[in-house]
Amino acid sequence: MSALEFSDRVHRVNPSFTLEMTSRAADLRSKGIDVINLSVGEPDFNTPEHIIQAGKEAMDEGFTKYTAGSGMIELRRAICEKLLVENGLTFTPDQVLVSNGEKQSLYTACQVLFDRGDEVIVFSPYWVSFPEFVRLADAESVIVSTEPNSQFEPNFNELISKINSKTKGMIINSPSNPTGGVWSNNAINKILDISKQNNLIVISDECYEKLVFDGQYVSTEKLNNYNTEVLTCMSLSKTYAMTGWRIGYTVGNHNIIGAMSKLQGQTTSCANSIGQKAAIAALTGDQKCVENMRNKYKERRDLMIGLLKEIKGVNCAVPGGAFYAFPDFSYYLGKNYNGEKMNDSFKLCDYILDVAKVVTVPGDGFGAPGHIRFSYAVSKDTIRKGIDRVVKALNELN
Ligand SMILES: Cc1ncc(COP(=O)(O)O)c(C=O)c1O
Repeated sequence: MSALEFSDRVHRVNPSFTLEMTSRAADLRSKGIDVINLSVGEPDFNTPEHIIQAGKEAMDEGFTKYTAGSGMIELRRAICEKLLVENGLTFTPDQVLVSNGEKQSLYTACQVLFDRGDEVIVFSPYWVSFPEFVRLADAESVIVSTEPNSQFEPNFNELISKINSKTKGMIINSPSNPTGGVWSNNAINKILDISKQNNLIVISDECYEKLVFDGQYVSTEKLNNYNTEVLTCMSLSKTYAMTGWRIGYTVGNHNIIGAMSKLQGQTTSCANSIGQKAAIAALTGDQKCVENMRNKYKERRDLMIGLLKEIKGVNCAVPGGAFYAFPDFSYYLGKNYNGEKMNDSFKLCDYILDVAKVVTVPGDGFGAPGHIRFSYAVSKDTIRKGIDRVVKALNELN
């Protein structure tokens, strides 16, 4: 056997193609090509100044060592206070695990909860990492479709028909990446009810909770009058423009958090100490910065959706949150350019990149054929310029 023969696990898992699109954009830029990147999955704002300052102070004070495995107690207390004040949820610090970004929280949750033979419900269009987390836990994702004209809420008949004795849990994500859909309280209530009846755990990914534009955000746990087991995963990445600081957290049942802490302790020990200090400043400081960013995203959303709706043949529901639009471009499938056929959204996005020099993300990768994800975490000028180029490229198809 060769030393370079990799484990089954590595062969099974798919690379993150959203990160691939980002690196393709960087590659073209490095060649001097004027590329417009509408594939970004992170805020274009810098981290607010008072948060950066707290990180600098942490370093100056020598706060550069390991912390408690589950996170500094001051940070876990700040998280509990945030959950109480902003979400109306009561948790104690021993029910909180701080991780290196919410991606690690979700990965560890799946490792702790799922095993070979288990089935986990994932709603399509899904964030690309959900099926991979499930796969890496040796379990199997069961995909349930959603309703594009109702904020991509679940098709409940299909959900019920797919639950069986192997179903162990489900992963929900509202506001959603890639659709921007925000589920109503009614839909979440149904999820909680069905989960309780079938003894399923609900992993609720709430990383876009602060990016809701048309109403009040309500955390899944807040609606949990069913006594359903809910594990809530949250992040500072999008709320405070802190993607590179890598701070996310999980709150839930004390025993699940304990199991996750055990696993995290043997993988990454703890979240980065400087990021944790910055996170305390973020959570306990003035929240005006969050509101300012949210208002800017809302303006950009309105601009982007308006422009997308003007494109011939394109359908685009108005997303209630996050910073993505997820229009249906099926009208352009089957069309040609220089004898090359647009067979699917991968091909269409490649064409848009080649001809318009605009990076977008193909919906096929999210389990949504014919759709394309556009990010509006970019300036209004970039949105205008990008969509203008896309329209010109589409007009070349016949
Ligand atoms: C739906 C969703 N969940 C979780 C994450 C992970 O966030 P982080 O690991 O930066 O906290 C992302 C990041 O893009 C996301 O889009």
